[in-house]
Amino acid sequence: METLESIMRGGFEDYRDFVNPWIYGRAELAGEPIRFVRAEAGRVVLEDGRALEDFHGTQAFGHRHPAIAAAIRAFLDSDAPNWFPSRVNPFAGRLARRLCERSGAYDRVYFACSGSDGVEAALKLARAATRRPRILGLDRGYHGCTFGSVSLMHDGPFREPFGPHLPGAEHLPWGDVDALARALGEGDVAAVVVEPVQGEGGVRELPERYVDAVCELTRRHGALLVADEVQTGMGRSGHFLKSASWPRRPDAVILAKQLGGGLAPISAMLTTGAWFERAYGADFEDGESHNMTMSYNALTAVAALAALDVLDEPLLARVRALGASFRASLAESLRGSPLFSGEVRGVGFMLGVPLVQPDHPWVSFEQLGFPALAGRPTIGPLVAARLYRRGYFTFVCGHDWSILRLQPRFDVPEATLLALAADCRRELDAIAEVV
Ligand SMILES: Cc1ncc(COP(=O)(O)O)c(C=O)c1O
Repeated sequence: METLESIMRGGFEDYRDFVNPWIYGRAELAGEPIRFVRAEAGRVVLEDGRALEDFHGTQAFGHRHPAIAAAIRAFLDSDAPNWFPSRVNPFAGRLARRLCERSGAYDRVYFACSGSDGVEAALKLARAATRRPRILGLDRGYHGCTFGSVSLMHDGPFREPFGPHLPGAEHLPWGDVDALARALGEGDVAAVVVEPVQGEGGVRELPERYVDAVCELTRRHGALLVADEVQTGMGRSGHFLKSASWPRRPDAVILAKQLGGGLAPISAMLTTGAWFERAYGADFEDGESHNMTMSYNALTAVAALAALDVLDEPLLARVRALGASFRASLAESLRGSPLFSGEVRGVGFMLGVPLVQPDHPWVSFEQLGFPALAGRPTIGPLVAARLYRRGYFTFVCGHDWSILRLQPRFDVPEATLLALAADCRRELDAIAEVV
């Protein structure tokens, strides 16, 4: 059998040649470090020995968290089956119980492999339970890449090539309560799907007034309120569920990303027995009508159970406290830079720094030879590229490249956050000198 070392030696180029040359090419062009060869104390290390702190967010517990890795290893060393022919998988059962108890609001869980599958499950739940056609999302939303979830995607390259989209899927303007009330008033809406804090849309928290309205209006008009907590849930916002503090608990929430501890792909849609019954409760066939083969596998459930153990109350408190101080340090360090908008957005360890695009032809994509990207801000990618060299892997919001997105692992050392805030200022100053 080929060794791991040998796979890693040639596998990066195999990815370029056999998976997606564009992703490889984009990373190369943007100066993103690619050839990571090992994880060490939560960080990732390049071939040349340089370690980078990953602010992407998916590895919320750090790369290869020892307790989560140990749980997976213990499962593999046991003789427990991974997949149960009846589908009655005790590991999925126990994980569902733990998620429901932790949520304090739900008593049914559907498992899948990605955030997109989880959103898809919520859309199908809503359609099946209400038998209504319309599904509403918000302007600049990001909900995933399956047909249903992509239909709710912000217009642009992630959505445009795949039309015609799911009939009945529509976008509502951001924060517009009147538009929401008008749409729901028509009585044919199955669900409203929102992110408590939009990630790709620019690290925008849903305004409180809108949260109140969407909670009340969905209830009044019998539509499901779906909270896509793929980004905000499992601790990123400083809470197990960001929507837990809303005036009404959403009818369904979706968790993914770090649910598998960064080591196993798993997502979950949590809902109530009442909605499940309405959607899938007619008979046995109904009860199986939305199911995926590997949704019920023990390995990913074991990883998620370990991740739930790691995500205890002290860790959530740490994310809240350090998130607030990191936000303040960034604002303080960047204050006065002409390339800083003046505000740092977000909650917990989900922060965004809106930057100011310099009005200088040297730093436009047209000038850099990429007319297809004309009009897109270069400032975010430029700052990220400079930060790679300082040992931070940061990135920009998918729908808004002027926003630098900072999503550290939950156990990141405080000193690293302070250093990033200072280094970010140094890089903004260096760019400001030229433009
Ligand atoms: C809010 C939100 N929902 C859904 C998804 C889709 O998740 P996945 O990429 O695991 O399919 C993402 C992915 O980033 C997301 O940010």
